[in-house]
Amino acid sequence: MDHTIAIAGAGYVGLVTGACLASARRRVIMVEVDPERRQTLVEGRVPIYEPGLEPLLRAALDAGHLRVTDDWEDALAQASMVVVAVGTPPRADGRADLTAVEQVIATVRAGARPGTVLVMKSTVPPGTSARLQQQLRGEPFAIPIVSCPEFLREGAAIEDVRNATRVVVGGLDRDACERVAEVMGVPGAEIVRTDNTSAELIKYGSNSFLALKISFINEIANVCDLMGGDVDAVAHGMGLDPRIGRAFLNAGLGFGGSCFPKDVRALDQAAGRYGYSFWMLKTAIEVNDQQRMRFVSKIRAAVEGPIEGKRIAILGLAFKPGTDDMRQACSVDVAMRLMELGAEVVAHDPVAMEKAAPMLPGVELAESAYEAVAGADCVALVTEWPEYLHMNWNRVRHLVKRPLVVDGRNCLDRDEMSACGFTYHGMGRQPGVVLWGRRATDRVRLESEGVA
Ligand SMILES: NC(=O)c1ccc[n+]([C@@H]2O[C@H](COP(=O)([O-])OP(=O)(O)OC[C@H]3O[C@@H](n4cnc5c(N)ncnc54)[C@H](O)[C@@H]3O)[C@@H](O)[C@H]2O)c1
Repeated sequence: MDHTIAIAGAGYVGLVTGACLASARRRVIMVEVDPERRQTLVEGRVPIYEPGLEPLLRAALDAGHLRVTDDWEDALAQASMVVVAVGTPPRADGRADLTAVEQVIATVRAGARPGTVLVMKSTVPPGTSARLQQQLRGEPFAIPIVSCPEFLREGAAIEDVRNATRVVVGGLDRDACERVAEVMGVPGAEIVRTDNTSAELIKYGSNSFLALKISFINEIANVCDLMGGDVDAVAHGMGLDPRIGRAFLNAGLGFGGSCFPKDVRALDQAAGRYGYSFWMLKTAIEVNDQQRMRFVSKIRAAVEGPIEGKRIAILGLAFKPGTDDMRQACSVDVAMRLMELGAEVVAHDPVAMEKAAPMLPGVELAESAYEAVAGADCVALVTEWPEYLHMNWNRVRHLVKRPLVVDGRNCLDRDEMSACGFTYHGMGRQPGVVLWGRRATDRVRLESEGVA
C-alpha cells in the first residue's frame, strides 16, 4: 500500500527519516513550524551538519518526492501516516518536555482523516503513548499510535537508518503496526513487535545502558589513574568477552549530546514518579558530570602552578565528531570552568563554531586548529575530530608556548606525542604499559610495522 507520510518536525530525526523515505520513493510532506528552517530547506540546504543529508534532501525535492510546508490542513488531508519527530527537550528537573508532542497530537486529532496512523518517533517517557492514545481514541474515529523509536546516531544518521539492526513497532492496533513496519522496515532489520510502553522502554533502556557503559569505563579509568593500570588495555581485554563487547568502552570526558543526558535523566524521573529510585542512572549521570571537572583538574595539574592567565587551547566543541550539535557538549562546561579559574581560553571546531559562539562568552574562537594552539600553555583535546588526530604535531610543537597535551578522548598516540616532544596526559592511560596496553587497532599497526 502506498502512503503519503507527513512528518512533524524537520530536525535531525525528521529530516533524516524524511529524506530516507523519499529516496525510497515514498511521498513525504515535512511539516516544520520554524520559518527560517523551512526556508533553508525549501532552498535545498540543510540547517544542520549531517554527512550526506543535503544531497539526499535535494534529490528528493527535485524528484518531487518530498516537500516542506507549515500547512497542517493540507498535510493531514493527504497523509495516511503522521510521524512525530519533534523535540522532547529536558525540563529543569530532568523530566521530558512534551509540549511540542502534545501540540502535534492536538493538531492531528482536529484534522486527520479516517485511517490515519500516528507514528511516535520522538523519544517520549514510558507510558506517554498509552496516555496520549486515550485522547485519540474518541469520536468520530480512533487514530492508533504506533511507537517507533529512533536509534540513529548523529554524524552517521543516514547509514544508521538504512542499516538499522532493529525496527521497533509498539502498539495495540495490529493492522496499524504492520503498516508502520512495512514503511519503516529496512532489509536486514528485525522487526520488534510489542506494546507502546515496551517500545518506549527499549529506547530509554538502550540509551541508558550505553550511558552506563561509558560511565563505568570512565570510573575504571579514574581508578587506573590512582592505582596504575592502563584503561585501553583493560577495555580491550574486557571487550573481547562477547557478553561485554568493546563498543562504548572508550574512556574519556564522558557523554553529551541531545539524547544520552536527557534520556537517562528522563527515565530516572519517570521511574521516580512511580516511587522507584533508579540508582544506576543517578550514578551514571553523577559520574558523567564529575568527569568534565576531572578533566579540568587534569589540566590544572598538568600546567603546574596557578592556571590564572594561562592560555588553554580547546580542540573540538561539538559534543562528538561528525556533527555541529552543541547540546550538552562537554566543551562548554570545560571552557566555562577554565574561564572561572582565570585561564584564557581559545577554541576551535571544524563545523560547530557558529552554534558554539553564543554558548561560550569570553572564549576566543580561532579560525584554524593551528591558530588555536599558537602560544598555548596547554592543548586540551575535547572532541576527537579526525583532523586533530592527523594534525602535524611537529608543527604544533613549534607553535605552542609549552608542549603539553591533555587528551580528553584518549585518541592521540601517546608515543607519537612524546616523540614530538609533548608531555602527554590521557584519561586513565599509563606510560608504563605501552606495548601491552595497545588497543587492537594500534596492535595491528604495530604488527605491520614489525614492532609487535
Ligand atoms: N538527534 C538525535 O540524534 C536523536 C536520535 C534518536 C532520537 N531522537 C529523538 O527524536 C526527537 C527529535 O529530536 P531532534 O534531535 O530531531 O530534534 P530537533 O530539535 O533537531 O528538531 C525538532 C524540530 O521540530 C520542530 N517542531 C517543533 N514543534 C513543532 C510542531 N508543532 N510542528 C512541526 N514542527 C515542530 C522544531 O522547529 C525542530 O525543527 C526527540 O524526541 C529526540 O530525543 C533524537
